Amino acid sequence: MTNALTLSSGKIYLSGPNGSGTGLPPKGLGHVLPVLPFSTISLVPSNERNHPVRIAVVHGPNLNLLGVREPEVYGKATLADIDRALEELAREVGAEVESFQSNSEGTILDYLAEIRDRVDGVLINPAGLGHTSVALLDGLLATSRPFAEVHLSNPASRESFRHRSFLTAAAIGVVAGFGVDSYLSGFRCLYNYLVRQSGPAQ
Ligand code: DQA
Repeated sequence: MTNALTLSSGKIYLSGPNGSGTGLPPKGLGHVLPVLPFSTISLVPSNERNHPVRIAVVHGPNLNLLGVREPEVYGKATLADIDRALEELAREVGAEVESFQSNSEGTILDYLAEIRDRVDGVLINPAGLGHTSVALLDGLLATSRPFAEVHLSNPASRESFRHRSFLTAAAIGVVAGFGVDSYLSGFRCLYNYLVRQSGPAQ
């Protein structure tokens, strides 16, 4: 029996820059994921491993307001839309996902301290905290779990105070500027990374 899972190819969805529009793929087009780089990669599906890959998704301050907050910058998708799309993707690959949002830095740090024993990796949109918080970087490092950073907008194309992120140098990778697709691509990249890292199931 082969342990290979070939990720689906041929589904491409393009959203406007910086998450314009809903940022969500139209129904029937499937997920918008970097199709070509993944289409030839064989992976061990989560459900054939000792346990499914478990990813925590952390949304930083003000992301609870997505949908109404500067939609021209962040798109019209709500946080619930994003979480739903991530859950669907997790189901598709056989991973487990849990999502958390807080406007309070301390609450996010407490959450990170709590999940270290139950997740394999963290997908985080630090929002404004990425530009200001060494404590958030420390909290992520303290999990001893790999993390990926995502942003709906492209901070590098915005005000200069958004150009620095305290997290980036320690992240496995960063996806920014693609609206909801940043989350979906970041999730898939992190998932692939975690699967490869832990090797085939025994
Ligand atoms: C953001 C970008 C940050 O600069 C900003 O503070 C946010 C959202 C994004 O997803 O584009 O709150 O992280």
